[in-house]
Amino acid sequence: MNKKIILTGDRPTGRLHLGHYVGSLRRRVELQNSGLFDKIFILIADAQALTDNADNPEKVRQNIIEVALDYLSVGIDPTKSTIFIQTMVPELTELAFYYMNLVTVARVQRNPTVKTEIQMRNFEKSIPLGFFSYPVSQAADITAFKATTVPVGEDQEPMIEITREIVGRFNNIYGETLVEPEILLPDNAACMRLPGTDGKAKMSKSLGNCIYLSDVAKDVAKKVKSMYTDPLHLNISDPGHLEGNCPFIYLDAFCKDEHFERYCPDYANLDEMKAHYTRGGLGDGTVKKLLINVLEELLAPIRERRKQFEQDIPAVYEILQKGSEEARIAAAETLNDVRNAMKLNYFGDSTLIEEQSKRYKAQ
Ligand code: TRP
Repeated sequence: MNKKIILTGDRPTGRLHLGHYVGSLRRRVELQNSGLFDKIFILIADAQALTDNADNPEKVRQNIIEVALDYLSVGIDPTKSTIFIQTMVPELTELAFYYMNLVTVARVQRNPTVKTEIQMRNFEKSIPLGFFSYPVSQAADITAFKATTVPVGEDQEPMIEITREIVGRFNNIYGETLVEPEILLPDNAACMRLPGTDGKAKMSKSLGNCIYLSDVAKDVAKKVKSMYTDPLHLNISDPGHLEGNCPFIYLDAFCKDEHFERYCPDYANLDEMKAHYTRGGLGDGTVKKLLINVLEELLAPIRERRKQFEQDIPAVYEILQKGSEEARIAAAETLNDVRNAMKLNYFGDSTLIEEQSKRYKAQ
């Protein structure tokens, strides 16, 4: 019977924010607790983070613990999921090197996520080769664990596509060896990509428009109060527009009917509130107040758990070390399969040695 295996992860370049939460973390915890998977691997992709932070290794190094703390505080449980650090599993690098022969430069150039990143980082003139090849390294991350399921945000879709192509080509050339993974996208449309608090398309550290999972309540409230809403909604009585309206988009992602009972009993649910807003007569302040309450209900326990883990940093590193050791065993097994399939097994292949030896003796 085929095993169901999850692999997913994040670059350690900063603390994780609400965008990560709706895009992947929330789902990961659900999947972990569903009991439907035989193994769950969660990688802290430090090698990938270095592909565009080569000059700032300290940033990557310092953020490994931040990401680990965020994982643990949202409910990733190291007894159920294996959390590990990418560079502590060197087998991944070797796999990536072989996979690079199966992907063309043009193929990576067409990858929309890589394209956007190249623009954002001003890499147009000279792209670091390592950065350019990170989709291939990501294919190694996924296939090394024979992952069947990769729960990620939609921006990662092109990476999974390349991975599937690599798997197809590899198996075709060298024989059935690798497992083709499937992407698992967030289910709620509003969660596909949470905009930044400024209304820009994406929550991103460099844009300074994030609400971090570890933000204190006061900062969360401040950020919500300054959120971009509807520039045409000047007076409360004006009809409001929902499109691009951050508090409503966030409510779509986080709010349940029961929140209205608790925090905003004038409405039974979000649809009623939206209708009032569109009609006119509902101020942004009321919407934001509800959102602050909803977010606080979510973030308070996360913040609390984080505090506890922060008290024992050595224990968190132990979790990462144990996870990395476990991950390494799994990746080594796949690397062994790959080497055998590619016949990179010169010393262990007696037929090769005997045949060549016979051939030369006969000359
Ligand atoms: N590219 C992912 C990000 O930007 C991180 C990552 C690296 C990843 N390897 C992966 C995600 C493998 C899923 C599967 O956060």
